[in-house]
Amino acid sequence: MVVLPFLLFPACENKKNGEKTGEMKIMPAGIENLPSLKKQYEDYFLMGNIVSGPVFESPRFDLLIHHFNIATAENGMKPDALQREKGAFTFTQADEMADKVIAAGMKMHGHTLAWHQQSPGWMNYEGIGRDEAVENLEAHTKTVAEHFRGRVVSWDVLNEGVSDNPPLPEDWRASLRQTPWYKAIGPEYIEIVFRAARQADPEAKLYYNDYNLDNQNKALAVYAMVKELNEKNPDAGGRPLIDGIGMQGHYRLGTNPEHVALSLERFISLGVEISITELDLQAGADSVLSERQAVEQGIAYARLFKIFKEHARSIARITFWGLEDSMSWRAAQNPTLFDKDLKGKPAFYGVLNPDAYIVENSGGISKDAKQVKALYGTPRIDAANPDPQWDKAAEIPVDQYLMAWQGAKGTAKTLWDTEALYVLVHVNGAVINKASQNAYEQDSVEVFLDENNGKTPYYEKDDGQYRVNFAGERSFNPPSAAEGFESAAAVHDGSYTVVMKIPFRTIRPSAGRLAGFDLQINGASAQGLRQSVAVWNDVSGESYRDTSGFGILELVSLSQN
Ligand code: XIL
Repeated sequence: MVVLPFLLFPACENKKNGEKTGEMKIMPAGIENLPSLKKQYEDYFLMGNIVSGPVFESPRFDLLIHHFNIATAENGMKPDALQREKGAFTFTQADEMADKVIAAGMKMHGHTLAWHQQSPGWMNYEGIGRDEAVENLEAHTKTVAEHFRGRVVSWDVLNEGVSDNPPLPEDWRASLRQTPWYKAIGPEYIEIVFRAARQADPEAKLYYNDYNLDNQNKALAVYAMVKELNEKNPDAGGRPLIDGIGMQGHYRLGTNPEHVALSLERFISLGVEISITELDLQAGADSVLSERQAVEQGIAYARLFKIFKEHARSIARITFWGLEDSMSWRAAQNPTLFDKDLKGKPAFYGVLNPDAYIVENSGGISKDAKQVKALYGTPRIDAANPDPQWDKAAEIPVDQYLMAWQGAKGTAKTLWDTEALYVLVHVNGAVINKASQNAYEQDSVEVFLDENNGKTPYYEKDDGQYRVNFAGERSFNPPSAAEGFESAAAVHDGSYTVVMKIPFRTIRPSAGRLAGFDLQINGASAQGLRQSVAVWNDVSGESYRDTSGFGILELVSLSQN
């Protein structure tokens, strides 16, 4: 192994009786002494990141080899980097890169043999004939895969061959992206490129790689394609044609990890290996990441890594697409684990120890959340003559305005029993109007409920939004939340009252339980336009899709009544 001079920094023993994460090195100036991600995950999967020229400079390269044991060339092995002119392969830079990576003790993954992007114009242009296309595809694939044989452990053979959100995903052929390769050759181009790669490098694991695979339609199309091609080619050099599926993993705070898990499980059922190949997670904008966003990003990464750990037996590798934020292809959205000074962001700690991070920080997001108690009781659903049981319940003010105009506001009360949460809202100061087409712009009240108090930045199965206007008209998010819901509304002089019965959908309520909870009063102007919004706790304006800012409702036992 060649040891590069800047790798010769002194190491110090810092091991507590064989403790796994204890070993630390003195890092060059500018890099924190953080536990190593590759060590932390050595029993689970390979940990990867991307390389390009600037990554090989110290101290970035030190950070890279401290945390990662496999590298992908960000752009250096794409078709336009290796064969810009037909027949003239340019391997020098990619070779240098691969050699440095391997010399540093890391593995190398190849990205990518066929793609409709970053490919030279001559290779797969619109209108190219079938024979020429097949010849170009095979020649490139064979030459490149043969060249790196023995140096890369796996290849993205085809990148992004399926369309986004295909309407008929079971028909994978109809779901293929209309690229020049597809138009010239037809669906068969996929087998052609995988066969060529297998022939040229029989050892390398061959991957189909794509983005947005948390979209269930796209995932289903990829599933159907890999299933059929592997069933058709069970013995392509001793094994099925496609070894693995790469989920790129370009995510956002709003990405629902349950969708990622669903796709993962679908792919695992095919018996192929899975890698997360280009992981990043956007948070904030304009290269600004607020403290709250940074913690939300940490939690989002942690939730993903919990899922990845649970499926580790089928996951070969997790590669991040960018070492530090300023180098990312999505730099303005701060998507990586390290900041521009190479310091670990909250995202790093979310990845390092997902369970602990979630426990320590979920509360952190909502530490200023208001909390109220719901007493036990089953009131009649009557707004004109409210049940006397409400008399014992405490009043919750709904009077924090989200907009400049200070219109309708009110007070609410809550009760619960084993079936449902009951909410009574009394609204004052409303010029009542429901002329708007949009239910949320009519004079109405909304209850937000996060049954498991998960504080997720997106809605899960246990989350719901329940809206009733002054005339008793209801709307729900998701629509299925309507099931079993009951309500009543009554208008008085310049005010109105709404009573709701919200059945618990996913929990068995018991005393002492905490639920995420919020209230909103929408005030319309005399013209029917949205004029004001008053809430109890969550002033983010995001309650309709993000539960992390909700207040907290504690279910209190009978005996405390
Ligand atoms: C990106 C690189 O990060 C950028 O430097 C380049 O300008 C464009 O490509 N999916 C892929 C990657 O498979 O190759 C892309 O990489 C990101 C999306």
